[in-house]
Amino acid sequence: MYGDFELTLNEDSFLINLYQRFPVTIHRAQDATVWDSDGNEYIDCMGGYGVAIIGHCNREVIKAITEQMNKVMVCHMSTYNDSRLQFLSKLKSIAPEKLDRIFFSNSGAESIEAALKFSRKYTQKTGIISMFGGYHGKTFGALSVTYNPKYRKSFNPLLEGVKFVPFGDIPSLTDAIDDSTGTVILEPIQGESGIIMPPEGYVKAVRDLCTEKNLVLIFDEIQTGLGRTGKMWAGQNWNAVPDIMCIAKGIASGVPAGVTFVKEEIASSMNLGEHSSTFAGNPIACSAGNATIDTIIREDLVTKATDTGTYFKNKLVELRQKHPIIRDVRGMGMMLALESRFDVRNILMDGIKRGLLMLYSGRTIIRLLPPLVMKKEQVSRAIDIMDDILTVEEKRRNVKG
Ligand SMILES: Cc1ncc(COP(=O)(O)O)c(C=O)c1O
Repeated sequence: MYGDFELTLNEDSFLINLYQRFPVTIHRAQDATVWDSDGNEYIDCMGGYGVAIIGHCNREVIKAITEQMNKVMVCHMSTYNDSRLQFLSKLKSIAPEKLDRIFFSNSGAESIEAALKFSRKYTQKTGIISMFGGYHGKTFGALSVTYNPKYRKSFNPLLEGVKFVPFGDIPSLTDAIDDSTGTVILEPIQGESGIIMPPEGYVKAVRDLCTEKNLVLIFDEIQTGLGRTGKMWAGQNWNAVPDIMCIAKGIASGVPAGVTFVKEEIASSMNLGEHSSTFAGNPIACSAGNATIDTIIREDLVTKATDTGTYFKNKLVELRQKHPIIRDVRGMGMMLALESRFDVRNILMDGIKRGLLMLYSGRTIIRLLPPLVMKKEQVSRAIDIMDDILTVEEKRRNVKG
């Protein structure tokens, strides 16, 4: 019987064991709150790994998708669609200067794959420089420029010609450039490796170096983009505009979508059919994207990210003063991290028990990617929960001030 089958097995009985999973079944969500199947409420600082940028189940997104689904759900790129045209013009209106051409895909890694191919075609060079700690996804191309050896080691050979240099270190980057180098790729703020901030002046210096050496600079704004850091694009924090920019995560509020923004001269090096995707620019993703961009602008979520994010960070700094277990607090806007002196697993699990969802980055870092619509009262409640959890953890580990 199907019913018995469902009762005795859970997702893990079917899935390949690839994700670190937490014992919470999310049943319903609204804005920055989620509820589990027993009706327990959680403050969501996980934000679906940064996807729920305008909050969960935004009414405008639901309306746009529903209307779209009643009109057309399937429209390949070989034909035209009105929602797609709207999405293109909205994306253009928020794009950094000169990134005039757009390629659609369905995920972050795919937007990176496209960027790497476009740059290879334009530069005719195979050399790529990426950063220690850089994370760009797990498909073969994206994995080739992802640093963590844990993800890479079983899948060699990857793309040839990739070098890694320390993030934040201009002399190392300069030394690594040779005649084969065509591309430099980086996240302006590194997300997956623990909200690693670039040293002041670094991002702009990379931009200037790439201009001087005639290299294509790719910014991976998959985690940092769309207002997350308090600017529409993290690069704007340092007046740096890339030649190619990748976004995904929250652009369609949970409907899979990736976007690669490309300078005209790079885009025009590509020939018909050299890259494509069946689902690219599908009308549902485009309509969700339209409502997402409208919401970011109408609700001024970029400014809100700075405002709420500064409040959140100040509260975290107060926690650090109280709790010796905290080694560091960092980040900007609604992209924050709290680094512990110990493994953070207990803290994450205690959070779930107390109604707070948080993310981790590696063993010792708690990463916070809350929806930009999170209210200050929720931040304050999240901080109270963290305060209690950290006190318990310090007792457990016998940490004294
Ligand atoms: C900076 C960055 N690049 C790329 C990716 C890969 O995106 P996806 O998981 O959608 O393929 C991620 C995902 O977390 C990311 O944070």
